[in-house]
Order: sequence, then C-alpha cells, then structure tokens
Amino acid sequence: MRVVVGIGGGIAAYKSAELVRALQQRGHEVQVVLTRAAQEFIQPLTFAALTNRKVITGLFSEASQQDALSSAVEHIAVAQENDLLVVAPATADLLAKFAYGFADDFLSTLYLAFTGKVVLAPAMNTAMWEHSATQSNLEVLTRRGNSIIEPDEGWLACGTIGAGRLPDPEYIAERVSSLTRQKKDLEGEFILITAGPTQEPIDPVRFISNRSSGKMGYALAESAAKRGAHVVLISGPVNIPAPKNVELIAIHTANEMRNAVLENLAQSTIIIKNAAVADYYVADVPRQKLKKTAARLSLQLDPTPDILAEVGQRKGDRLLIGFAAETQNLLEEARRKMNSKQCDMVVANLVGQDGVGFESDWNEVDIITRSGQTVHAGPAGKKEIAERILDQIATLRLSLRAVDTPA
Ligand SMILES: Cc1cc2nc3c(=O)[nH]c(=O)nc-3n(C[C@H](O)[C@H](O)[C@H](O)COP(=O)(O)O)c2cc1C
Repeated sequence: MRVVVGIGGGIAAYKSAELVRALQQRGHEVQVVLTRAAQEFIQPLTFAALTNRKVITGLFSEASQQDALSSAVEHIAVAQENDLLVVAPATADLLAKFAYGFADDFLSTLYLAFTGKVVLAPAMNTAMWEHSATQSNLEVLTRRGNSIIEPDEGWLACGTIGAGRLPDPEYIAERVSSLTRQKKDLEGEFILITAGPTQEPIDPVRFISNRSSGKMGYALAESAAKRGAHVVLISGPVNIPAPKNVELIAIHTANEMRNAVLENLAQSTIIIKNAAVADYYVADVPRQKLKKTAARLSLQLDPTPDILAEVGQRKGDRLLIGFAAETQNLLEEARRKMNSKQCDMVVANLVGQDGVGFESDWNEVDIITRSGQTVHAGPAGKKEIAERILDQIATLRLSLRAVDTPA
C-alpha cells in the first residue's frame, strides 16, 4: 500500500522516523509530508534518507511550481496516488484545521483532497488533549470516518503524567497495516451492481438522461471485487474507467438495464441497485431527427419498467439493496421504498446539496436495514462510503445466515 505520513509540530515528531521505518518493514511505500512547525522538531533530510524520495515541506515550494507547469498539482497528485494518510503526531492545531476544513498548508490541503482512509494519532499535553475544543474536534473527525489512535498515558515531555503520549511507532504501524489489509468477507458472493444514468432516446441524436456520474456504483463494484466477490457491473454511459476484476455490461436505456439485470439474476446472491434509471421513456422514437419549428413540442412519455420492484418480487433469499436519492423527506422515502420494493437495505442520500451526491467524489448517506437500524456514513469519499455500505451488507449477510442455521 502507498501511505502518506503527515507529521505535525509536536515533541513526538522524533518518533515519526521510527514510524516510517516500521511501515516500510511491513511493505508499505511511504511519502512523508512535514508541516512548517514539524521542521522545528525534525529535519526533512532524515526522512529523505529513510524513504529515498523528496519530502514535502510546503504548498508553494519550487518543486510545486514545476509540477504545476506540467499540470500535476502536487497536493492533488499525492492525494490520488496514495491509499492511506496517517498523521502522527497529529497536533491539537492539525486536529482543529482538519475538523474545520482549513487548507492553509500542504498537509491540511492534502487532507481535504484525500478520499482514502485517514488515520490520526494525536499527541499533546494532557490539558490540551482533554480540552473540550480538542475533544469536540475529535468527535467531528470520528463521525467523518477518520480512525483515531488514542494517545497513551504516561510521562509527557512537559514533565507531567497523563494522557497525550504518542503510542509506540510499532503499534501505530500495526494499526495502519490492519486497516490496509484487504478484507475478504464477500468471498463466494455473486454481486450484481447497477450504476450510472440511463439514456432514453427521443430521436436518433437526442436523449433524456440525468446527472448520475456512476462514481458511487463503480466504487462499490471495485471494493466488492477486492473483498472477494464476483462482480457484474451493469452500467449506463459514464466517463470513468471500468474497475479491475469486474465484469462490465454497458447499457444505455432502462429497458436494456432491465434485461441485463434479469439475465444475471439467477446466479446472483446480492443485488445492489445504484443506477439512476429514467422513470419515463419515449416508446415510439421517430426514425428521423426532430426538426426545430416555431411550434411547441410535446413528448409523449411512458413509464419505464420498475426494475427494483420486479427484482424484489423474484429475489427469493437474495439480498436486495436499493438506493434512494431524494431532494426532501429522505428517510421517509427510503422506508417507503424498502417496504414497497421488498428491499433488505436502502442507502439514502440527499441530492441537490453542494459538494456531495451526484457528480461529486463525496457522499453522505444513511444506511437503513429492514430491522429499522440506521447507520450514518460520511461526509466522506465515495470509496470510503462504499466500504461502509459493504460492511453493513456483509454484517447483514452474516446475521441472516445465523438465523437460517439451526442451533
Ligand atoms: C517545544 C514545543 C512542543 C510542542 N509540542 C506539542 C505537542 O506535543 N502537541 C501539540 O499539539 N502541540 C505542540 N506544540 C504546539 C505546536 O507546535 C503548535 O500548535 C503548532 O502551531 C502546530 O503546528 P502544526 O499544525 O504544523 O502541527 C509544541 C510547541 C512547542 C514550542
């Protein structure tokens, strides 16, 4: 795995050299980022020698100018090239910046651009750690899905005893490694995932579609394949590459999507219906392009097949997961969908908000199960949200198997 180690300006910065070593010994490729304050405690040269690569020390370095000229903005490139960001020590200042979304140096800007897993290992004086400001920042970061490695108790550099000491680098490296270890909890499952928009032609050159980018469905497909499932991804037209180890079936219309879903239903054990399927289509598409005239044009639209409802009727003991993208009454609509379409789980997200949902790399969802349990995930990158959704699916699968298996 490719790991960024971000180092804040705390006494414990000296332990970060050992952390870099411990991560490398576990097979990780490490890129180090030092904040300006961190450089008061430890030299970039130490990390350059350990990692054999340039240590990033600021947003506006000479190197970043060269990168920008070659159209590779460094903080975005580092965010995209790495799988996990660990910040150790995470100072009180960094926790506050991350919680509030400040982006005034390389590390905080990288944090905002990073869509992979984030691990924070805070270290500071006990009073700073226990301060309500620090604790409420931690609450925000935990809710966001960041993993926090709590500080140890013991002798602190400031001469007091209490909570705030950075844990042993070997322990942090082990925690990071356990997060990067690939779960294989979906082995043996055949997962059918629909993604993206549909395009409903109105004449040979025009169509009705929607703003779905397919990013959420593709992230689900990629993660499910990594977790051991055989994945068939039925996708409307999108501008993202097919995930690795996934069988891709490209379709355009709701009818084509229905056919592809029904053809693959028999083998499937889990169906995730994430596509934004058109509700209406033009049944009699003219053979020739519609001509512009001064008169008002009316389109006759017929309802498309309700694929989710149809799968719900035929699902047997398969798990059926629906998505509800709503602009209002989110949970109410999600529960209605759960019951009327016989879903086992509905992932509900508000669309039409700034920064999350359609087209964005970010999302914020409520994962609702038939038993009434609701788990909130995000705002977080769609890859992280995909993992959280699959965690819930794997848990539901296990609990249903336990019910089916006689004692
Ligand atoms: C000697 C010394 C030790 C410090 N140790 C810590 C520390 O362990 N944890 C912490 O949160 N801040 C510590 N600080 C304060 C930070 O250095 C300061 O808040 C700085 O702005 C943090 O910068 P950063 O955002 O780059 O981490 C220390 C400051 C000094 C002068």
